[in-house]
Amino acid sequence: MATVLVTGGAGYIGSHTCVALLEAGYEVAVLDSLANSSAASIDAVGEIAGRRPRLHIADCRDESSLETVLAEVRPDAVLHFAGLKSVPDSVADPLRYYRHNLDSAAVLLAAMERNGIRQIVFSSSATVYGLPDELPVSETATTRPANPYGWTKLLIEQMIADLVRADPRWSAALLRYFNPVGAHPSGLIGEDPEGIPGNLMPYLLQVAVGRHPHLPLYGTDYPTPDGTAVRDYIHVMDLADGHLAALEHLRSSSGQTHTYNLGTGQGVSVLEVVSAMREATGHPLPHEELDRRPGDVPELWADPGQALKELGWSASRTLADMCRDAWAWQSTHPQGFRGGKA
Ligand code: NAD
Ligand code: UD1
Repeated sequence: MATVLVTGGAGYIGSHTCVALLEAGYEVAVLDSLANSSAASIDAVGEIAGRRPRLHIADCRDESSLETVLAEVRPDAVLHFAGLKSVPDSVADPLRYYRHNLDSAAVLLAAMERNGIRQIVFSSSATVYGLPDELPVSETATTRPANPYGWTKLLIEQMIADLVRADPRWSAALLRYFNPVGAHPSGLIGEDPEGIPGNLMPYLLQVAVGRHPHLPLYGTDYPTPDGTAVRDYIHVMDLADGHLAALEHLRSSSGQTHTYNLGTGQGVSVLEVVSAMREATGHPLPHEELDRRPGDVPELWADPGQALKELGWSASRTLADMCRDAWAWQSTHPQGFRGGKA
């Protein structure tokens, strides 16, 4: 069975993908600096899957550690999740974001090339589309990132596509995630943001466990049915399954770069998320209506048709599933991994 190296595998999406990979029979090794995660997530992955991936604590930008890890693991493919992901931080400190994300990808790809490992799955984002011209957004839509974080994703996509063009022994899948939420249904792993969460679902979960009095609701005057912004929320285990499908496809894709939207194709408003979370948590989840958050688009949802056509993948979990599973995690880990289990 194939061996894969998962960079950023101790993080939110990486850890869930490790579970799916292990359950599908892959040999899994993780490379993570633990800059935004904890080794406890890898222990929990082991508990769920019955096999613990080997964790290599290292930074993707560190060429010599990467050489050592690749020589030891000898992966057939790499799934590259590692990177910084905060939009506001990237606006405040663009150089840090460009250096961190671009260096991580470039150093990793060069080390892969030197070691003859030429299959890569990359975590991109729907943020590459910026304000879309039309909905749903397909992979051929114009890309115009509205912030440095989005630009790092688009530039890495370009770097990978150029590499594949230059050497057809390479193959790549660029996965543009919409809004990943939820957790493994066991509640043993989940999203564990440091500080005050910037995203909707983690904030709501922290209201539900009493860490904040109410949700700040940004914008009630959007041109949408209930006035709040609409997004395409996707269960993180559906996302994990999408990685498996993309990885399988790479085996027969020499010389090709595939780009896929990973979303459900369904737009859901902020108020609809609040209502579904009330249902899951039994908490009233009060909110305070505020002005729109700068940089937010009114509506964004995916056309996930390409992934269905080429990978046979589509999301199957509902918004209720996302809320139930996220709550299974947050209610048992009110302070995340750092606080231990409740
Ligand atoms: P996360 O922060 O939970 O996970 C990223 C992991 O990478 C962390 O464990 C962190 O310690 C590690 N890391 C960061 N820089 C590193 C480096 N240079 N070397 C080694 N390890 C490093 O984030 P996530 O939500 O799991 O996101 C994973 C990937 O998916 C990221 O690339 C992110 O940009 C992308 N993405 C995330 C979302 C989202 O909503 N979470 C949406 C679209 C795309
Ligand atoms: C954000 C990022 C995007 C990233 C995605 C991951 C921005 C501009 N974009 O997308 O790059 O890929 O997260 O999930 O940051 N909201 C509230 N109150 C809150 C938090 C959010 O009302 O406390 C609203 C937002 O205004 C937005 C919606 O909820 O309308 C979703 O927000 P969020 O979860 O941050 O996701 P995105 O903004 O879509």
